[in-house]
Amino acid sequence: MSEEASGLSPLDEAGIAAAVEEAVAAFAAATTLEELKVARLAHSGDNAPITLANAQIRTLDKSEKPTAGKLMGGARKAIQTALADATARLEAESEARILAEESVDVTVPVRRSPQGARHPLTVLIADLTDFFVGMGWEIAEGPEVEHEWFNFDALNFGPDHPARQMQDTFYVEGVEKVGTEEQFEAVSNLVLRTHTSPVQAHEMLRRGAPIYIACPGKVFRTDALDTTHTPVFHQVEGLAVDKGLTMAHLKGTLDHFAKTMFGPEAKTRLRPSFFPFTEPSAEMDLWFPQKKGGPGWIEWGGCGMVNPEVLKNAGIDPDVYSGFAFGMGLERTLMLRHGISDMRDMVEGDVRFSLQFGTFGRGN
Ligand code: PHE
Repeated sequence: MSEEASGLSPLDEAGIAAAVEEAVAAFAAATTLEELKVARLAHSGDNAPITLANAQIRTLDKSEKPTAGKLMGGARKAIQTALADATARLEAESEARILAEESVDVTVPVRRSPQGARHPLTVLIADLTDFFVGMGWEIAEGPEVEHEWFNFDALNFGPDHPARQMQDTFYVEGVEKVGTEEQFEAVSNLVLRTHTSPVQAHEMLRRGAPIYIACPGKVFRTDALDTTHTPVFHQVEGLAVDKGLTMAHLKGTLDHFAKTMFGPEAKTRLRPSFFPFTEPSAEMDLWFPQKKGGPGWIEWGGCGMVNPEVLKNAGIDPDVYSGFAFGMGLERTLMLRHGISDMRDMVEGDVRFSLQFGTFGRGN
């Protein structure tokens, strides 16, 4: 092309007009700034016919220079104008395209990313916490790695009580001193607490009487995971110690709790039983209206009047104060309330399971 172009004379009016026309057409045909750049190099770059013709002017006779200068000046101006027009056009187009392409339509529906769900146990704990706080009780939590002394001795379990055996209790390596007050100092093995009742002892020692507390939390027993057992599960413990508390207060509290958790037709029934830390003790059954196959009684937990020995172990005078306590499994409570048949569903943490119960609380 440059060979051919070098042939273009600065005096060749028709040739120059044709070169200008070609340049103008090429600029007009460019649809992007990149294409325009290619056209610019071809038609007004160093090796473009017009540029090379322009360079020829100085080789002409003096007499020819004015004509050639005028011709070339007009040609170059026409090319520059066409180039400027094309540049302006394509820049405007590019800006408009960027504005259109990069704008965000806030009304377009988006695909929602899953938010997860609170585990139904967490929701249940929030519900029952509301219930107890609503009665004016306080919520207490204790350690999950617990002193054998708190888990058993303080609760009046004899040294040979079968529950202490390795078959039921996870022992943790190591022994520790218990208690800061001299009175309660003892050397104690560490266990994973087998129930929430040790929180009773901690809180009675810490707060004294009167005391009204509920203690939800994890407990551990050496059971294999199957449809009705899990080695880690949850309980809620209730403890009330005051002057003049009787079993009637216990029964009233349990009935109220049952109705709140299971509906207005729910109620409880007590059957004589034994726990070292309560006397008398009872198993508590729940009248469950939605029971599969028709309403009926279902075992829900244990309860009783706090054993005077336990009050004494916690520094409370049993001649002045009496108390009641109860404890129930939360997985079991959930299984009853929602007709869940397999304990393992509650352990696996599959969000699809949790989502069935709503993400925030009851009614959501
Ligand atoms: N801690 C008992 C258990 O785990 C339940 C219970 C609590 C019984 C309080 C009586 C009083 O089975």
